[in-house]
Amino acid sequence: MEVVITTAGRAAQLAADVIARAITRNARAVLGVATGSTPLGVYTELGRRVSAGELSLREARAFALDEYVGLPAGDPRSYRQVIADEFVAQVDIEPDAVLAPDGAAHDLVAACADYERRIAEAGGVDVQLLGIGSDGHIAFNEPGSSLASRTRVKTLTDQTRRDNARFFDDDLAAVPWHCVTQGLGTIMEARHIVLLAFGEAKAEALHQLVEGAVSARWPATVLQHHPHVTVLCDEAAASRLELADYYRETFANKPVWQSL
Ligand code: F6R
Repeated sequence: MEVVITTAGRAAQLAADVIARAITRNARAVLGVATGSTPLGVYTELGRRVSAGELSLREARAFALDEYVGLPAGDPRSYRQVIADEFVAQVDIEPDAVLAPDGAAHDLVAACADYERRIAEAGGVDVQLLGIGSDGHIAFNEPGSSLASRTRVKTLTDQTRRDNARFFDDDLAAVPWHCVTQGLGTIMEARHIVLLAFGEAKAEALHQLVEGAVSARWPATVLQHHPHVTVLCDEAAASRLELADYYRETFANKPVWQSL
């Protein structure tokens, strides 16, 4: 696992570099996209590069991580809609090439199995963007999630519902209790995982992810078993990392031939 302590702006550029390299290797690369506040700078940077003619996602495909259960189609808070507004609208990817779990399906169990099948049919995810919850979740795999889990229905923790109430006019009662989320086992199959974390509220979760014991108590720790994870974080999120100086030295002295 590589930890890069930098600014949010530089982190967005580095994450966009990883995606651009994947597209250079294969124009039909499969991207894993996250919602929430954290990846917004990456989408803005990708949009800038597309507008400048430096990058095209025209042939790329993408899968979202998760979705609330119970929001009507087109609800601006639904993650499908957020991805459409924040990612698809800024770049030149085909809207039909971007899929999200169906949290409004009549048969949620079948919809979860279908989502897994579609990811596999696309050949798996090449670059997966992740944020991290203050309780250590990735996607919506809350504490206690099986480290081998697949796409399924989960119940959100009180902490996550409070954290996300800001997207629901601070009305906690309006935040859904349930979601459909890619499992930890699903996410672990992505070839390269780029996790971004900004702000003091993420400091403990980031410390656990990088330096804690692997445990369902802090679901993101499963990433310690992945061979290619890049953590891009700011100073505040890094404030509880015990080996922060070592991560800084490692990145500062990275061999020039070695990309992220
Ligand atoms: C979103 C997702 C979540 C968020 C996490 C952090 O698709 O899967 O795991 O990444 O809740 O959210 P923000 O970025 O809003 O702090």
